[in-house]
Amino acid sequence: MRRKLVVGNWKMHGSHAANAELLAGILAAKPYACDLAVCVPAPYLSEAAVTLAGSSVRWGAQDCSAHEQGAYTGEVAASMLSEFGCRYVIVGHSERRSYHHETDLLVADKAKAALAKGVTPIVCVGETLAQREAGETETVVKRQLSAVIHALGHCAGEMVVAYEPLWAIGTGRTASPEQAQAVHQVLRAQLRAATAHADAMLILYGGSVKPDNAAQLFAQPDIDGGLIGGASLKAADFVAICRAAG
Ligand code: PGA
Repeated sequence: MRRKLVVGNWKMHGSHAANAELLAGILAAKPYACDLAVCVPAPYLSEAAVTLAGSSVRWGAQDCSAHEQGAYTGEVAASMLSEFGCRYVIVGHSERRSYHHETDLLVADKAKAALAKGVTPIVCVGETLAQREAGETETVVKRQLSAVIHALGHCAGEMVVAYEPLWAIGTGRTASPEQAQAVHQVLRAQLRAATAHADAMLILYGGSVKPDNAAQLFAQPDIDGGLIGGASLKAADFVAICRAAG
């Protein structure tokens, strides 16, 4: 039985005051029956580390560089995330793939850079509405995952995968539990062909997960938790989603 994982993706939201209130709300609702983490904007990693140290709530970042170090203005190295105690880093989020033109290969290199420093990459894959309507969902997500599997080689079993259909992100339009499960099953089969650890790996669903739809999504056999955007910014909603996970 895989223990569920719920990860908050704060995106570019937050302030000292708002973060303190949100984290206090999450901590006040302990204990949790699932694993949970918050992926915060890089400038707030230090305060997340101080606030969450010693608790069961982990923290992480939303992106990292594919490079180890060097003249890459504005980038953050995986080693730096590791120094701030990050357990996770999201890589290949669709907002980075589309706004920053990140390719499958770059995402794969970022995942590899993260793992090399002991930070677990949460690798996002997902199709656009046009791709879904053209019947290309499977081809797209398999292509995205395949690049990462190839780059990670025998360490592929150490990543977390997140299926996030683009048409469901921030739109209020969630994939139905059956639609999500169908894609998760495809991803699980692809992982099985690549690593002996596939059945222990976590595949999260992301895209308009809310307190009122989380339980049905998490009840699907291959949905091992969620990557939560908007609803992770309100402690009550995030806590309710964590409760739905176990
Ligand atoms: P959402 O975002 O929950 O606001 O749809 C999910 C994500 O982008 O990770």
